[in-house]
Amino acid sequence: MQTIHVDRATKRFGTLEVLKQVDFRMEQGEFAAIVGPSGCGKSTVLRMIAGLDHPTEGAVSANRQIIKEPHPSRVLIFQEHALYPWRTVEKNVSFGLELAGIPKRERKERVDALLEKVGLGGFESYYPHQLSGGMRQRASIARALAMDPEVLLLDEPFGALDAITKITMQNELLRLWEGSGKTVLLITHDIDEAVYLADTIHVMSPRPGQIVETIRSEVPRPRNRNGADFVRLREKIMTHLDLAK
Ligand SMILES: Nc1ncnc2c1ncn2[C@@H]1O[C@H](COP(=O)(O)OP(=O)(O)OP(=O)(O)O)[C@@H](O)[C@H]1O
Ligand SMILES: [Mg+2]
Repeated sequence: MQTIHVDRATKRFGTLEVLKQVDFRMEQGEFAAIVGPSGCGKSTVLRMIAGLDHPTEGAVSANRQIIKEPHPSRVLIFQEHALYPWRTVEKNVSFGLELAGIPKRERKERVDALLEKVGLGGFESYYPHQLSGGMRQRASIARALAMDPEVLLLDEPFGALDAITKITMQNELLRLWEGSGKTVLLITHDIDEAVYLADTIHVMSPRPGQIVETIRSEVPRPRNRNGADFVRLREKIMTHLDLAK
């Protein structure tokens, strides 16, 4: 179980102030999203929670312990998904399990079950270049899930997908998350995606990124993308992003 706390985190790269006093918490099992304009520091927030970067001021902690380095309980799926081109789908997904010393039989069982779940059953022996973009993305999600992380950090995971695959993947992600107790933090440019998936939505300002509003969603699940409360929440977020007419 992990409570993540981003505690008044400010981040500067040289003289460039990227994040300013970003402050929020995530409880175990929560599905949170961050929406905000390009360059406002969203990926930087995620990298800090993953332990790949550190705030200049303030702190980022898990269960009150400062996050100093990556830990297998917190897995980041990068904005540009990075599968190993020289490994098959199966070998990509089992990579972390190999490092963790999981025996071959158990690895194979877990990987097969996951590939089935993300709709890649039958593609085990394909190499990344033989897959479509959506399939590659599903493979990288399977690879992250293989580690059975407590905290899943997703950086624009569906950004490059076509509209139909995207909706399928969003539903798939919900199915994997519901009842799993996993904490998810999703970065997205897509306001509908945030409203469809998240319990909590943090809206960020342009750089230096600050959280201008944290919204607890009251849209009941399963969510109807055309429902009145859904549309209202979308509009509220657009107003906070200064996008409403
Ligand atoms: N390692 C780094 N060194 C210097 N500047 C960096 C570094 N990483 C990020 N930045 C800068 O920090 C700012 C925020 O970058 P970040 O990737 O967090 O934005 P983002 O909100 O994820 O943007 P996008 O929506 O386009 O992915 C950018 O101006 C970027 O140039
Ligand atoms: Mg980014």
